[in-house]
Amino acid sequence: MIYRKLDEFSPDFLWGSASAAYQVEGAWNEDGKGPSVWDEYVRIPGTTYKDTNGDVAVDHYHRYKEDVKLMADMGLKAYRFSIAWSRIYPQGNGEVNEEGLKFYDNLINELIQYNIEPIITIYHWDLPQGLQDQYGGWESRKIIDDFNEYCITLYKKYGDRVKYWVTLNEQNVFITHGYEKAVHPPKVTDKKRMYEANHIASLANAKAIQSFRKYVPNGKIGPSFAFSPIYAFSSKPEDVLALENVEEISNYWWLDVYCWGEYPKIAWKYLSKLGLAPTIEAGDIELLKAGKPDFMGVNYYRSGTVEMNPLEGGVEEAVAKMNTTGKKGTTAESGVPGVFKSKNNPYLEATNWDWEIDPQGLRIGMRRLTNRYKLPILITENGLGEFDALENDNVNDDYRIEYIKKHIEACQEAITDGVELIGYCTWSFTDLLSWLNGYQKRYGFVYVDRDESNEKDLRRIKKKSFHWYKNVIKTNGQQL
Ligand code: BG6
Repeated sequence: MIYRKLDEFSPDFLWGSASAAYQVEGAWNEDGKGPSVWDEYVRIPGTTYKDTNGDVAVDHYHRYKEDVKLMADMGLKAYRFSIAWSRIYPQGNGEVNEEGLKFYDNLINELIQYNIEPIITIYHWDLPQGLQDQYGGWESRKIIDDFNEYCITLYKKYGDRVKYWVTLNEQNVFITHGYEKAVHPPKVTDKKRMYEANHIASLANAKAIQSFRKYVPNGKIGPSFAFSPIYAFSSKPEDVLALENVEEISNYWWLDVYCWGEYPKIAWKYLSKLGLAPTIEAGDIELLKAGKPDFMGVNYYRSGTVEMNPLEGGVEEAVAKMNTTGKKGTTAESGVPGVFKSKNNPYLEATNWDWEIDPQGLRIGMRRLTNRYKLPILITENGLGEFDALENDNVNDDYRIEYIKKHIEACQEAITDGVELIGYCTWSFTDLLSWLNGYQKRYGFVYVDRDESNEKDLRRIKKKSFHWYKNVIKTNGQQL
């Protein structure tokens, strides 16, 4: 629909920004913290861009007061951050580390002092290495109870002050990257193991939500899903079928389980025929159905475009060669014969990392989610990763302002369409470590003076977009 007038953002709309522990904190082995799988993985030569790691990251652990002060200067309404499991339980289970709990306690209090709503992500990929060693991490059902214990510890400690909680960040990404594409720990390429580990993660998610109802009865909880709505490359029916295939296998496979406690029928049959569907034990479906979320967290960066891929002679590469350098055009084609083949969308510009820029895709995606699941949505991540140039202590990131502006407009259109949107968190507040792309792919409103080879002074410098977003918040989205 094209409207003459758009609905306004609600007065309590959460204008926010987000980060993740491993990408900002540093202090990787301080105050009793145990190692995470990322602390180990980054030490394998060649796994990350220029072998970067999060040992220091942007030193948020020591500078959180300064960072929160900057958030307050901006007038930020919400800050989404993750908790490092191995700060709370150094081995993943067993004894609690009080110093770890204290750090997040201080951070939450600091945020509240400035009227910034804390949004906790319980798990943003940094699994305690102890659990990987004890029983293979997400591949063992033992993790369901350990994750639940960890969650309960957090609920008891912070549930009195924190209303919004995110369970797992991008289960679809950490599972596929870890067990199919082998670009995240534990660096496995085995689809059967991937689908089994994924099912266990879904059970852990559901159990954590079930416990939440008991310990934080007035709170709101949901997972964050990396959502790319899919387009057909042409109106040829076989291309539309390819679109349906990818929605089934790459989106509904997770979303239906979160929201309905059921796997999508067609994808289930397809994966069963290949011997890839996960093992369902007695009680699993009941648990999944008991763990429904209050909202769907959406991490949106781009849409996807596909055409049909022939069974014989089609593109065989299930995993696209990723562009981790910022050299435009270095992403290779991917696809599954008989299912889909990825295409560049000729109507969309892409970033230097080949991510299509598509604000209407966000609106289309939120409408699809609303129609299918009828849940409120919290945008838990959206932003532009680009090279930034620091000149005379200024960063003129007009391209980032343009990107975020267009996506906020799409949010307002979606609200006018009938999408119930709780808030919008940009990725990210300060610059931070990109898991595979080092420090040169920047997302923040605040520049952090460091690069891959030199930690420099880690000074914080407000970019042009900082001042722009401050005014967006001040006018509740009326001035973009
Ligand atoms: C999301 C993650 O996938 O995208 C973030 O939740 C991540 O942790 C962000 O940093 C941007 O991805 P990238 O690869 O550009 O850092």
